[in-house]
Amino acid sequence: MSKLQANRISRTNYHLGNFKFQAKQVLRIITPPEIRHKLHPLWVGLRMHPVMLMPNHISNYVYDLRRFLKWSSANYKINTQNQLRAIITKDYHRIEKGLALKNPRVGFGREVIQRLLSNLLKHQEKFGSDETIQIALNTLFAYYYFNLEQDLKDEQLYKTLIKLQEKIHTSESKTQQGGVFKITKGYILKSAEIPLQAFFESRYSIRNFASNDVEMNLIEQAVAMAQKTPSVCNRQSSKVYVFSSEEDKRKVLSYQNGNRGFGDQANKVLIVVSDLENFTTIGERNQCWIDGGMYAMSVVYALHSLGLGTCCLNWSVEPQVDMALKRATGIKDSESVIMMIAVGHLPDELKVAQSPRKKVHEVLIVK
Ligand SMILES: Cc1cc2nc3c(=O)[nH]c(=O)nc-3n(C[C@H](O)[C@H](O)[C@H](O)COP(=O)(O)O)c2cc1C
Repeated sequence: MSKLQANRISRTNYHLGNFKFQAKQVLRIITPPEIRHKLHPLWVGLRMHPVMLMPNHISNYVYDLRRFLKWSSANYKINTQNQLRAIITKDYHRIEKGLALKNPRVGFGREVIQRLLSNLLKHQEKFGSDETIQIALNTLFAYYYFNLEQDLKDEQLYKTLIKLQEKIHTSESKTQQGGVFKITKGYILKSAEIPLQAFFESRYSIRNFASNDVEMNLIEQAVAMAQKTPSVCNRQSSKVYVFSSEEDKRKVLSYQNGNRGFGDQANKVLIVVSDLENFTTIGERNQCWIDGGMYAMSVVYALHSLGLGTCCLNWSVEPQVDMALKRATGIKDSESVIMMIAVGHLPDELKVAQSPRKKVHEVLIVK
């Protein structure tokens, strides 16, 4: 949809809204109160009729569509470094995944390798090097050595990789990451040996915080833990904004409708976002909500593990409010707000909502 069409729909929506308002004013003047009283349910029914709601629904979807087309590379236009980096990450991760299979096919993924090499060159020319580029290159070397071990010697690939390595070698890009490594069942079982049920059950949405400061290093620790959250092709689209000053917290919470009575006690307010520049096909149009939602869950559990209280705060808003928050905070248009999280220390005693859960048999469908 073109910008012109999008503008036209939102203008139509605006005029319809205006028309509805004026019609209401006229009706108020020309109808006696008792008739008005009788007409009221009819008016409410009319207002809530799907046809009347449609323009607003469409303009909300147009907002999402405009942002997705502008910032993702689903339209095959790659303008920003983030978009190119996302495509590089997607491709080098394909190779990592291939190498992690039980029996990788010798010489697999030729097309991906070619595209990755050409995108690495493009990145180098347009934006220089960074850690992602080095990781991608390390993965390509791992691919080369895997094939070599299987008696497939690809001289041409090796020469290209060496040339690329010479070009991209910078001080920030020194990392050994990329490729695969071996781990054992014993390591996983030992590390995962924690009473997780009690951990899950003791997390509540906290709406009553103690007044002491939440140290920034706790937020940093939680975000470091959340970095291990799975994401589509490891593209890691999520970020966390932290608001600490009274003024900033008040400002961001004023755009959110579910924090009345406790938001002002939160010592930190986090905003979790997912950047649309990481998504590459129209099939990924909802991926930001999944990756960002999972990331937010990790942040909440990580904060819980550090003894802090949290309350997720919905971002179920229409475009005007979304844009207003972004203007007020500097959150980018390309970033979709997943949720806010109120964070604070726990008081010694507190009440929590019971929030009873459905039974397992209601949600577990065994086919
Ligand atoms: C995305 C999301 C948005 C939420 N928004 C709000 C909110 O705006 N205000 C609020 O008080 N609680 C909010 N909650 C908390 C839920 O009410 C709570 O998670 C649910 O009732 C389960 O309770 P529990 O978290 O204590 O287990 C939200 C939760 C999620 C996951």
